[in-house]
Amino acid sequence: MTRKPTDLFALRAAAQNDTAVRIVERFASEPARLKSMTVEATGLHIDLSRQPWSMTTLNLALDLAEARGVAQARAALFDGETVNRSEGRAVLHPALRAGEGAAYAAGGGPVSGEVEAMRARMRAFAQAVRSGEITGATGQRFEAVLHIGIGGSDLGPRLVWQALRPRGERPVELRFAANVDPEEFAEAIRGLDPASTLVVVVSKTFTTQETLANAELARGWLRDALGGDGDAHLCAVSAAPARAEAFGVRPDRVFAFWDWVGGRFSLWSAVGLSCAVALGWEAFEALLAGAEAMDRHFLEAPAGRNAPILMALAQVLNVNGLDRHARAVIPYAQRLELLPAFLQQLEMESNGKAVGADGQVLAHATCPVVFGEPGTNGQHAFFQLLHQGPQVIPVDFILVRRGSGEAASHHKLLANGVAQAEALLVGRDPAAVRAELADHAERDVLAPQKDFPGDRPSTVITLPELSPRALGALIALYEHKTFVEGVIWGLNSFDQWGVELGKALARGVLSELEGGQVQPHDPATAALIARLRT
Ligand code: F6P
Repeated sequence: MTRKPTDLFALRAAAQNDTAVRIVERFASEPARLKSMTVEATGLHIDLSRQPWSMTTLNLALDLAEARGVAQARAALFDGETVNRSEGRAVLHPALRAGEGAAYAAGGGPVSGEVEAMRARMRAFAQAVRSGEITGATGQRFEAVLHIGIGGSDLGPRLVWQALRPRGERPVELRFAANVDPEEFAEAIRGLDPASTLVVVVSKTFTTQETLANAELARGWLRDALGGDGDAHLCAVSAAPARAEAFGVRPDRVFAFWDWVGGRFSLWSAVGLSCAVALGWEAFEALLAGAEAMDRHFLEAPAGRNAPILMALAQVLNVNGLDRHARAVIPYAQRLELLPAFLQQLEMESNGKAVGADGQVLAHATCPVVFGEPGTNGQHAFFQLLHQGPQVIPVDFILVRRGSGEAASHHKLLANGVAQAEALLVGRDPAAVRAELADHAERDVLAPQKDFPGDRPSTVITLPELSPRALGALIALYEHKTFVEGVIWGLNSFDQWGVELGKALARGVLSELEGGQVQPHDPATAALIARLRT
């Protein structure tokens, strides 16, 4: 049965109507536009004035958020209700970053006490490793951490490390291995000494094939160098601590988290342990504080000034109002190069669904394809399509006001970000293009090719600096935006049933590739397995 998306119809009609006026022209007819569509949230500046809505349509979008129950859903999430109904779980990542004395409860049971206790354990462990109080089996200090995990057990910590890692010499190096392709593991341990490497195996379920395979490689690598003592270099982070212990991790090196922590929202739990060790506790705590500040903004700011809600509405407007099924994320900061990959999982695994939380097929589109590259690199790759391609692809530009490097280079970086957003918005006057070609024999052929239509939407997010606090706020902003979109689209953002079939089939195919009995398959799969077996 298909649900009638009557409430999205009005937004779609208004959005289509709005296209009659170019976005850039609206600034004159709507003097309050820039101010009304720009919000400050915990030090982040978010400009949504380049989105293709009129002030009237923005208000309609806010009505839609109200009608779809965003405020109630937000309250249910923060109150620890079972918002992930298909898995019968609460979803309480805000509890993980709440300051001391918070009183979160999941399904009625208090959780803040155990969160604080685990945070205290993480802190003590991270500090003891960094100070050299906890050493390796031979008494050497830990100079490196090897983080093993995949998906939500990898992307957040990897993004944070890439963004915040100290320049040059670092007291603790952090490496990552996610892929079951052993090439990544081999690269991750290159140059590391097992005697001074701590291995942190991160898996919510502790059943993930890739992670267990890499954990075994790591254990073998440690044992080859250190014998049985090598096992003492293993740590585990899991919501299934008994499985981690069964794997051979000492109980005092197992750091638990809980089923109410979704994998792609788990950075703030012990999943962030390797970052806490490698960056230091103060940095990790500041990351949590930035996210907590964004939680408060999301909870307290009125909808029309609420950054996650407005960003979600801009996304809904583009997808459901204007059929724009992709979005580019372009951080003008090399250190944020993994943000697009992180957001791909956050948004596409959360909201890439065609069936609603009530089990009915949705009659509207949901999550767009999210992709991106750091600026300026992307400009020299796919920006051609963003400027002149037949499909309109909204862009999130992320700029960092204070750079960490040389000022002149940072100004060049920022200038490019500003210019690209302007080019997309304003385009170029076709008359100017023709005038430039006035004496050219081929002007009628060339002019249309050199035309920049503009009128292409973007959101510009400006961070004061790339600090742990600002990064925490940025990640939490996108988390809440993703949640609000899921509410408006009527789906459960917190499950991921779509990844299960491939995992199950891979188990059977593996046994066939290893010489086991061949099972019935479709002709194409059977032929491929036969080819790979020989
Ligand atoms: O790819 C599916 C998935 O279940 C993700 O949602 C999750 O983050 C990842 O696998 C890793 O799972 P785990 O932490 O249980 O190893």
